Amino acid sequence: MKSVLFATKSLEELTREASSDASGLKRVLGPWHLIFLGVGAIVGAGIFVITGHAAAQYAGPAVTISFMLAGLTCAFAGLCYAEFASLIPIAGSAYTYAYSTLGEFFAWIIGWDLILEYSLGATTVAIGWSGYVVNFLKGIGIEFPAALAQAPFAFDPQTGDWTRTGAVINLPAALVIALITVILVRGIRESATVNSIIVFLKIGIILVFIGAGLFFLKPDLWKPFIPPNTGQPGFFGLSGILRGAGIMFFAYLGFDAVSTAAQEARNPKRDMPIGILGSLFACTAIYIAFSLVLTGVVHYSQLNVPAPVAVAIDAMRLFWLSPLVKIAAIIGLMSVMMVQLIGQPRIFYTMAKDGLLPPVAARVHPKYGTPHVTTIGTGILVAVAASLLPMGIVGELVSIGTLFAFAIVCGGVLVLRYTRPDIPRPFKTPLVPFVPVLGILSCLYLMLNLPKDTWIRLFAWMGIGLVIYFTYGIRKSKLRRRI
Ligand code: ALA
Repeated sequence: MKSVLFATKSLEELTREASSDASGLKRVLGPWHLIFLGVGAIVGAGIFVITGHAAAQYAGPAVTISFMLAGLTCAFAGLCYAEFASLIPIAGSAYTYAYSTLGEFFAWIIGWDLILEYSLGATTVAIGWSGYVVNFLKGIGIEFPAALAQAPFAFDPQTGDWTRTGAVINLPAALVIALITVILVRGIRESATVNSIIVFLKIGIILVFIGAGLFFLKPDLWKPFIPPNTGQPGFFGLSGILRGAGIMFFAYLGFDAVSTAAQEARNPKRDMPIGILGSLFACTAIYIAFSLVLTGVVHYSQLNVPAPVAVAIDAMRLFWLSPLVKIAAIIGLMSVMMVQLIGQPRIFYTMAKDGLLPPVAARVHPKYGTPHVTTIGTGILVAVAASLLPMGIVGELVSIGTLFAFAIVCGGVLVLRYTRPDIPRPFKTPLVPFVPVLGILSCLYLMLNLPKDTWIRLFAWMGIGLVIYFTYGIRKSKLRRRI
């Protein structure tokens, strides 16, 4: 058993699998598609919803520093992702990287963990989307029934109590996932074009917001830039900035989703690093400017609302901009969900090809060339979760799960440098071992700053994954049959 747990897939074999002829997936995406795919995946509920909570509850104006810390962590991980993505241009992302370096057991762990990032990530954004839609409808005089716009239970992080909300289901969240699933089953090329249009709209409105905000800045609102700690760790002060970084980390998720489209990229060796690092860099710059403007036009304590950007616009008295921002957020969050719902099925697809999931999940649609079985399966899973779960819990679980995955990717780069120094690397992570080691340490540090309950949920989720692996995957693994 030991041998299968730590057996790795050879890089040569992975490259063979990456040939589109063998996979049935179509190679249609160029570098700009990939950067757009990245920005489309990254800019979403993090900036439109969660920034306000993090500023109001944990970091104040220093949420900008939280963004820098989270962005730095992602840059370390992004440099490691880029080396792998150019080396192993195959769908599956961190899962595949772990398979080739750390062995099947770690690959399963990470594949299972990535469900938190992709499926629960889409779940979180769908819940944020629902909030913006209900808010927008209210603005035009339509009251969406409250019983159908929220999860039935809410969780209070202060007391640890679950309470009934009085609602039955979050219907808009479920419906938007169903709609995107249908689009994705039809084909990735059409989806990438739609995504590019949405990215223009989303980034355009954020730049308008930043540009307009510059005329309304009140620098006094930034004083003190780091509000003093309340006496409780994690609430303002230095520990608040770190807690904020762990939470705002969510806003950066998505750049790694670019790597899951490697099999559909025309020139993956050159374009994957461009897509990953380019989108990460662009988003970091936007977030820094955005958070400075947000906390510079309205006091941070007023930002703990479902649509903080709208509050800032009202403070500027630019009422015409408010509905435009809401529409951009509503459409923009859809592109985030779209990329997450592109990534997840392709990870399931790759795991099924390896025998770790049932073979039906490896089917590719004969006409559309998409992994339709896993796309529909993921859609159902996410729609159910989004209609029943509260946003806070899901979002924190996404962050901790992804930080864990990033740490393993950084570790994988290190391992491969020592086990296979010979292979040509089209993109090399600079300053090895420092960058991967700093990547691992910064991910772990941000994880430590997340609440204890989130850790317990992570362990529970991973426990379920281990049971599945030892009762199914380990017996059906294709690698096992060969060793
Ligand atoms: N980064 C993505 C967002 O903020 C997940 O919505």
